[in-house]
Formats: sequence, structure tokens, C-alpha cells
Amino acid sequence: MTKVLFVCLGNICRSPTADGIFREIIKREKLEQKIIVDSAGTGDWHIGKAPDSRTVAAAKKRGYDLSVLRARQVITADFDEFDYVLAMDNSNLRDLHSLRPTHFAGHLGLFLDFGSRKTHREVPDPYYGGNDGFELVLDLVEEAAEGLLTHIRQRLY
Ligand code: 4NP
Repeated sequence: MTKVLFVCLGNICRSPTADGIFREIIKREKLEQKIIVDSAGTGDWHIGKAPDSRTVAAAKKRGYDLSVLRARQVITADFDEFDYVLAMDNSNLRDLHSLRPTHFAGHLGLFLDFGSRKTHREVPDPYYGGNDGFELVLDLVEEAAEGLLTHIRQRLY
């Protein structure tokens, strides 16, 4: 079993998008018994809340249902649970490095390292911007999610 945790700041925009899209890919590939997906935020403001309505609406147009997800905050124990802890941006990654127990033997890094766009290493925070930002999140996440699947497949199966 491989367990993947996507992490952003609020867990209401970027990481739920990655969660929902990667979950859908896992379902499409019939890998639900082999790969587990979750998401969390480094911040605590939105704990228990559904994803941002703009995120839900943009994802719905591409066939992803994010409405069932609920925000939670990342905890140290997540490093014992998950094999891949993937940050949306460098600020999230720094926060995760401070939380990471020394014995963690999994992969902690940027999610977009599994993407192929040279223009983006981080998923830009869409929270304070317009609709374009939410579409860009979807574009970047869809691409990197396929790259992540290829990587996990090559490594494990
Ligand atoms: P996310 O976006 O990290 O992609 O979920 C944000 C959501 C909320 C806030 C910031 C970023 N906030 O400041 O409340």
C-alpha cells in the first residue's frame, strides 16, 4: 500500500484539488486497493470546512467532485502514516520540514516535481485572485498527478 498526502496552506483550494484529481485517477486505473490519498493544510483556519466554493465549482466543470472533502490540519503523525508528503509551494514545504520527524523515511517534496512544466515548480495560491487562478491550479494538478502515478508505478509495481 502506498499512501500519498497533499499539503497546502488552508486545505480548501490546492490540496483538495490534488486530492480529488489523484483519487479519480486511482479509481480510473483501478488502484484503490494499492494507493491511498488524503490532503491537509499547514494552517488551522478552515478545519472541518468543505473546500472553497470556487474550487468546488471549477473542479466540477472538469468532472471532479470535491464537495465531500473536509479540511484538516497536518500533524506530525502524518509522517508515520504517509509515504509521500507533497507540498504545493515552498512555504508549505518549509513548514513541513519543521514538522518532519528525523525518522521519516518517505518522500517529502514539491508536488510539481512530478509535473513536466518548467514554468511552474509551485502551485500558486488562488485564494485571493480571480477565476484564472483556479483553472491554473487544475491544469497544473492534472498534469503532475499523471506524473506522480507514472512515478509510483515505476517504483512499486
Ligand atoms: P489553499 O488556499 O492553501 O490552496 O487552501 C488558501 C486558502 C485559505 C487561505 C489561504 C490560502 N487563507 O488565508 O485563509
